[in-house]
Amino acid sequence: MTTIDAQATVTPLEFAVTKNLNAATPARIAEVLANPGFGTVFTDHMVDICWSVNGGWHRPRVQPYGPIALDPAASVLHYGQEIFEGIKAYRHADDSVHTFRPDRNAARLQASARRLALPELPTEYFIESLRQLVSIDERWVPSGDDQSLYLRPFMFAKEAFLGVRAAQKVAYYVIASPAGAYFTGGVKPVRIWLSEEYARAGEGGTGKAKTGGNYASSLLPQAEAYAKGCDQVVFLNEHRDVEELGGMNVVFVFKDGRIVTPESDSILEGITRDSLLQLAEDRGYTVEKRVISIDEWRQGVASGDIVEVFACGTAAVVTPIGALVGEGFDEAQPLGELALSLREELTDIQYGRREDRHGWLVQLA
Ligand code: PLP
Ligand code: COI
Repeated sequence: MTTIDAQATVTPLEFAVTKNLNAATPARIAEVLANPGFGTVFTDHMVDICWSVNGGWHRPRVQPYGPIALDPAASVLHYGQEIFEGIKAYRHADDSVHTFRPDRNAARLQASARRLALPELPTEYFIESLRQLVSIDERWVPSGDDQSLYLRPFMFAKEAFLGVRAAQKVAYYVIASPAGAYFTGGVKPVRIWLSEEYARAGEGGTGKAKTGGNYASSLLPQAEAYAKGCDQVVFLNEHRDVEELGGMNVVFVFKDGRIVTPESDSILEGITRDSLLQLAEDRGYTVEKRVISIDEWRQGVASGDIVEVFACGTAAVVTPIGALVGEGFDEAQPLGELALSLREELTDIQYGRREDRHGWLVQLA
């Protein structure tokens, strides 16, 4: 058993640890890590913490990975009261394991919780939950190029109650999965389908929160994207302003050195995006978070004002956008150097190959 930092401003949690007696063999782990893919194989353990109206956060555990017993009336299954995060653990050359800006993911989980009427998990508990899982499952953290252990913290309403109100019993879990490239084929420019028929989120909706419903609503347009030979879908809002992709933010590089990314109350505030924009500012670029319409995008590319467009997120890191495809058009996007150069700088920091001058890394093991 271990406790979280005694200096924490919240009561330290003491995790009860039950080891998995059927843990994967070294040979099985080596086989998975040789080609991890994304999100298909999970480590030997998971973390969970319970919450109830009366008891607050309690019963923190590390236990063998496995199915969760849920009452069929658990309100998450009916009303989708659920939120999640995505964050990675990176192995450094000295074998230590670090994660990237976990305070930001903790804060975003808290913001998502407020929007979905779920309890806020204190930052200290969030970071400690990652540390618990990564330390017990450390042998699952890969060391190959661009590989990592993808951590998926999530929280859901488990109270068995069909009335429509915020649940009084909630579960928080963290699971982990070794990850290679998110897109099969590695870092190559992706084709993006412009969804004109479907929106991901609306004004006043849940677009800013990381909640399952936003992803559920993206599945049909995403299937449409695949059918059109594209890798991802880009969504607009009701004013035809660019929002984001199904699971990534979008960034535009202008000829004059400005970097523009959509500002909106209905998109997810990406931590990868924020970090890349900081690195770009450090290099002297001017960053603008503002509304950018689909017309400005298409005209900017046609006139040569926009010289690069890329997508970014934890799972996919940085991926150049090579084509914008919509009903009746298929427009090649200009490819430049900046997306890949920022990707290299960011991953160098994450993997400990370059100085972490902003203090973004937190050691987990
Ligand atoms: N937008 C959406 C819809 C996402 O799912 C993600 C991925 O988490 C992002 C943006 C990028 O966020 P981050 O860089 O924090 O992973
Ligand atoms: C992430 O990048 O962590 C995400 O959550 C995107 C995803 C839907 C896999």
